[in-house]
Amino acid sequence: MKVIAIANQKGGCGKTTTAINLSSLLAGKGQKVVLVDADPQAHATMGLNLVPGDLGKTMFDILSPSNNGNVPMTEILLSIRDNLWLAPSSARLSAVEQELAGVEGRESKLYRAMGPLEGNYDYAVIDCPPSIGHLCVNALRAAQEVIIPIDLSLFSLRGVSKLMEIVFMLKERLGHEVKARALITMFDNRTKYSRLVLEKVRERFGENVFDTVIRYNIRLRETVDSGLPISEYDRRSIGYKDYDRLAEEVLTGTRPLSVGDQEALAAAEDFIEEAEGLRKVAMQEEEEAVHEELERFQVQGFKSLYPSMAEALVVNSPSALAEGDDEEY
Ligand SMILES: Nc1ncnc2c1ncn2[C@@H]1O[C@H](COP(=O)(O)OP(=O)(O)O)[C@@H](O)[C@H]1O
Ligand SMILES: [Mg+2]
Repeated sequence: MKVIAIANQKGGCGKTTTAINLSSLLAGKGQKVVLVDADPQAHATMGLNLVPGDLGKTMFDILSPSNNGNVPMTEILLSIRDNLWLAPSSARLSAVEQELAGVEGRESKLYRAMGPLEGNYDYAVIDCPPSIGHLCVNALRAAQEVIIPIDLSLFSLRGVSKLMEIVFMLKERLGHEVKARALITMFDNRTKYSRLVLEKVRERFGENVFDTVIRYNIRLRETVDSGLPISEYDRRSIGYKDYDRLAEEVLTGTRPLSVGDQEALAAAEDFIEEAEGLRKVAMQEEEEAVHEELERFQVQGFKSLYPSMAEALVVNSPSALAEGDDEEY
């Protein structure tokens, strides 16, 4: 069983969307998949149309030290679709962050609980909370791989650096190696900033970035309310195409994975500095757009006050006018 954690301490970078759709698509390709919701916000649980308050046993019962490992993972699994099971979450799970403090072996609770699933499932995908606490460390300890969604914002990139520190710590302290790969999400090809950052991410992270890029797609946003994975919500959307491609890339495992060392950590940090520079480019781009808008407004405002004089000016600055406007004069 391959265990993949989806983590980044930044909220809203596409972790849950990736967890739900990757799991569903892998299941659709005939893999037996367990989706583990390790976030007390229970977005993955709700995203599959389940109401956390209505559920019986949840991830809380698995991870809370009070249960001392007595609740087996199989007891909480809900069958969602063919080949897809969910280990659901609820708000109660947030208590575990405190309960685990100071408990011996606290970082390995999930790893131990998932042991008995070995051999019965092909993949486990763990959706992490947007923080680096015991829940996230447990997920990384249980995982062989971590997918780090990056929405190309600076917060998201900082999340990478923090996560790499934990990956490194797990290797140092527990001898547990997690392979990390970045996944670009919510990519908007129209801005120069996005294209530049994408180029830089590829340059920096090299083989540790998925070839697949998840583009910004409104249909993915809509799936949240529909309670359906994109494969059932809209198979013609680019969101479906992108996540299908990701599932293929995960299945074929085309890339060697080896982050988790100081070198990669240093690369991530360097990269953040560079990204600051790129952000300036983005700000400049925005400024130019505002300036253009302003100029357009000035010419048009002027036109309505002094139509004949404006006509003369317009000849000199045709780009400042919306198409077809000059026909009025
Ligand atoms: N590729 C995408 N295009 C458009 N919206 C997206 C995309 N990925 C995620 N979203 C939306 O962005 C919001 C945050 O995504 P989510 O997966 O919940 O992030 P996280 O789990 O990291 O907090 C959600 O409303 C989700 O529907
Ligand atoms: Mg989430």
